[in-house]
Amino acid sequence: MAHLSVNVDHVATLRQARQADYPDPVEAATIAEQAGASGITVHLRSDRRHIQDQDVRTLRQVVHGKLNLEMATTDEMVSFALDCKPDQVTLVPERPEEVTTEGGLDLLGHGDEVGTVAKRLADNGISVSVFIDPDPRQIERLSQIRGDLTLGFEINTDSYSTARGAGRDTELAKIIEVAELGMENGLLVYAGHGLNTDNVGAVAAVPQIEELNIGHAIVSRAVLFGMEAAVREMLTAMATS
Ligand code: PXP
Repeated sequence: MAHLSVNVDHVATLRQARQADYPDPVEAATIAEQAGASGITVHLRSDRRHIQDQDVRTLRQVVHGKLNLEMATTDEMVSFALDCKPDQVTLVPERPEEVTTEGGLDLLGHGDEVGTVAKRLADNGISVSVFIDPDPRQIERLSQIRGDLTLGFEINTDSYSTARGAGRDTELAKIIEVAELGMENGLLVYAGHGLNTDNVGAVAAVPQIEELNIGHAIVSRAVLFGMEAAVREMLTAMATS
């Protein structure tokens, strides 16, 4: 079965909404690993809207499994990664106004730039993955960029996750096609975006996919699952004062 890397960005979103010191994404990461996650993913965005630099540095000390840092290909982020040394960097496109990552990196337009950044990171011992849409042309370009590097790619599952009915089967077929193509070309295959308990099964069953990156659905469920305990805890605190 595919491994699960839990994205804890939205624990930090809740914290930043109040500029408070809780909930702590590092604490969430520890719980996620205790529950069976193979690793933790965070996206350090240029605007620092959720995860902060110190979160990544603390996670670097605390996470036992793979720490995967999603980031843009900017000089600022490359310097940060080289200093902090996560196990893996996933290169993503970033648009300041976007609510979440909107699509994969376009390697047909930006392949050389991505290749240069990937090589710098890999030369410093960091595994590199690239977030791309399930389009065979992107995989072919990534295979050219790879050279002798060990490279992975994360299939953007957003179109699959939002499709309904027959459209979902069409999107799943694209995921399967690029997963097979990626493995044939010696690339490591990951997937994620928009996955939840209703739609994850078919993607988790694709044999070439090593790991799924899932965040929003898990943090959302955690809020509801934890509500009863949190209210009971508050009532107990009120009664004992
Ligand atoms: N993969 C990438 C590249 C992402 O940017 C995100 C969102 O931060 C995810 C996976 C996880 O998506 P979701 O939060 O919808 O599970």
